[in-house]
Amino acid sequence: MATIKCIGILTSGGDAPGMNAAIRAVTRSAIFNGFEVKGIYRGYRGLITGEIKQFKTENVSNIIQQGGTILKTARCQEFQTEEGRKQAYETLKREGIDALVVIGGDGSLTGARTFAQEFDYPIIGLPGTIDNDLYGTDLTIGYDTALNTIMDAVDKIRDTASSHERLFFIEVMGRDAGFLALNGAIATGCEAAIIPEISTEIDQLEELVENGFRKSKNSSIVLVAESPTTGGAMQLAERVKNEYPQYDVRVTILGHIQRGGSPSAQDRILASRMGAAAIDALIEGQRNVMIGVRNDEIVYVPFSKAIKYDKPINRELLNTLRRLSI
Ligand code: F6P
Repeated sequence: MATIKCIGILTSGGDAPGMNAAIRAVTRSAIFNGFEVKGIYRGYRGLITGEIKQFKTENVSNIIQQGGTILKTARCQEFQTEEGRKQAYETLKREGIDALVVIGGDGSLTGARTFAQEFDYPIIGLPGTIDNDLYGTDLTIGYDTALNTIMDAVDKIRDTASSHERLFFIEVMGRDAGFLALNGAIATGCEAAIIPEISTEIDQLEELVENGFRKSKNSSIVLVAESPTTGGAMQLAERVKNEYPQYDVRVTILGHIQRGGSPSAQDRILASRMGAAAIDALIEGQRNVMIGVRNDEIVYVPFSKAIKYDKPINRELLNTLRRLSI
């Protein structure tokens, strides 16, 4: 195996709070261990176009508290083609980058896995996504901050819901995963969460209406995970308007507000630990693994597992929400 002298770092896919803390941790830990570091801009696109800059410790000063990513990010179609990946490999050779740390979600790590296999190239992944949907890690970078943003927003909407005695459907992100919706609902005392993981098992809306929403209160808030499987908040609200016209229904879609803002303490610490662990992993000769955290311990999850398996929702949380919303 060739010796690693220079490590490249990039962020890819949707930005997530804590990505900057991860960039800082990878950079500082790499330099601490005697490696050279290069920052690659705009995700895989920057690998193809060669948007690369040498990073010193000062390049990552004063960023731990910033949301977004100083390296910019993109969802790059070209990297999904053989030709695009070949160009990316040429760039890496030209720049003398011997290994990569990729911070991103499911799609980004899928790209990393394909590339690593095709070119026998060492890559370490860090789970950077607000969705928390990567298998093999209890938490992803950005999830905790997004959850707190949802909590603040829902707390505010509750004032209107209760003053006007309305039923609110609030749509949260998560792509095809219900972690933000379910835990957001528990944290804000919502009546229910409608999530894709159980959408095919039961008609969650019917169950909700049958139970009379919350019997002891005149207002209700339901968190809905965005997903074709749940139908989304708009579609559910339309159904209620048609089938149960007695309810005064409103919809709020939280949207990209959930991805922004300064990372929480938990995300900063998680990103710092994971970033440092990425360099440890390379030093130990690990390749093509995602850094995860399980029961507060750093673990290495092969890309194949992190990408292929669906992370299961904790049923105990569903039961807790049901029991507490009577
Ligand atoms: O994966 C993160 C995420 O925010 C998802 O929750 C959401 O479905 C998607 O990205 C939105 O992506 P974009 O910002 O490209 O519209």
